[in-house]
Amino acid sequence: MKVLVVGSGGREHAICWKLAQSPKVSELYCAPGNGGIAQEAQCVDVKATDIDGMVAWAKAHSIDFVVVAPDDPLAMGMVDAMEQSGIPTFGPRKNAAIIEASKAFSKDLMKKYHIPTAQSETFTELQSALSYIEAQGAPIVVKADGLALGKGVVVAATVEEAKQAATEMMADKKFGQSGVTIVIEEFMTGPEITVLAFVDGEHISLMPASQDHKRAYNGNKGPNTGGMGAVSPPPQYTLEIAKQCMEEIFLPTVAALRSEGRPFQGVLYFGLMLTPQGPRVVEYNARFGDPECQVVLSLLDSDLMDIFLACRESTLDKLDIRWKDQAACVVVLASGGYPMDYQKGYPIFGLGDASYSSMVFHAGTRLDEAGRYLTNGGRVLGVTSVAPTLEEAIDLSYCSTEYIHFKDMHLRTDIGHAFS
Ligand code: AMP
Ligand code: GLY
Repeated sequence: MKVLVVGSGGREHAICWKLAQSPKVSELYCAPGNGGIAQEAQCVDVKATDIDGMVAWAKAHSIDFVVVAPDDPLAMGMVDAMEQSGIPTFGPRKNAAIIEASKAFSKDLMKKYHIPTAQSETFTELQSALSYIEAQGAPIVVKADGLALGKGVVVAATVEEAKQAATEMMADKKFGQSGVTIVIEEFMTGPEITVLAFVDGEHISLMPASQDHKRAYNGNKGPNTGGMGAVSPPPQYTLEIAKQCMEEIFLPTVAALRSEGRPFQGVLYFGLMLTPQGPRVVEYNARFGDPECQVVLSLLDSDLMDIFLACRESTLDKLDIRWKDQAACVVVLASGGYPMDYQKGYPIFGLGDASYSSMVFHAGTRLDEAGRYLTNGGRVLGVTSVAPTLEEAIDLSYCSTEYIHFKDMHLRTDIGHAFS
């Protein structure tokens, strides 16, 4: 099969790496891809959000199957557009991807179907939002309704901070249309866990749980990022909690989307908080997490293409998906300054040596004319290792990172230890 993966980060590198191992995949393309993805797939110069351009390219090159990995094209309806052109595609349609694209929608869904989450109210009018914040007090959480590159959430320690966040979103339109509607939410505490699941509209197949590290600096300090590292499986997520989540969150969510006439096919991301009152949903995403994808797919023994096809054909219940009984860790190497301003274009050294004992997934790199890898994004690389225990996987990743350097490289040194 000729397969096209849409996206350009570490997540897409991991997906391409896994698909390249499938005997079913004869030609692999990635649009737009990056320097490292070019080792696994032919990179295609079409932007991930260019729906018409992507469909036209896929048709012109007789692509048999498309995988849409990032949130923006999913929310914009790329899956619907591919299907209308007769190209089978992995990922939720627009009417199901809304579970990530609108927090107001996802909060309403959880309320209607009694899925445990933080208590919240949705606002379209600033004065009512400000009065609500006054009445509730702090700490309190203010969220832009729409996609905002992971920056649309403010965990406010004071009433003033919360009011300022609401004003910036609603009146100053800091996130454009994404923040015209906001959700104001009760502040929760507890470890955060990610559970990714393959979903075929009806059936659900869980991947091993993982844990992202969203803050930029050690000790979970500093600004939120896309994710500075992840481990799988996280020790706090016990079998008992997993069972409770299955009954109270995972199955009810898939059933709720079906009942609403929005069957979900693709990867459903459950962002959970293990609060003293039990597991609660913090957020849903309609795709693999990045960098969670890198650790989870490293543990997959089965053919990823078979799984994507089963999700499309609603036969996930017939597929025996096998996972390594091991642990994995990814440490992200970022550009100095990320998630704020940073420089690009620095040469990267030591990739070959680091690859002996770890997979180095590329998040933001490009190849120059001389065939050298240069930095080309905030998150640059994800050094990923698999080992019998989590301690060993963490050690292996950190040993491999020692080989790699580029100017102003930044990494957290406490991945896997910050929450214990
Ligand atoms: P989100 O984009 O909704 O995942 O939010 C980003 C981050 O903000 C989460 O990973 C949490 O660390 C934090 N957060 C979101 N909602 C809450 C909440 N209700 N209580 C405490 N922290 C939250
Ligand atoms: N790592 C968090 C996300 O992908 O949204």
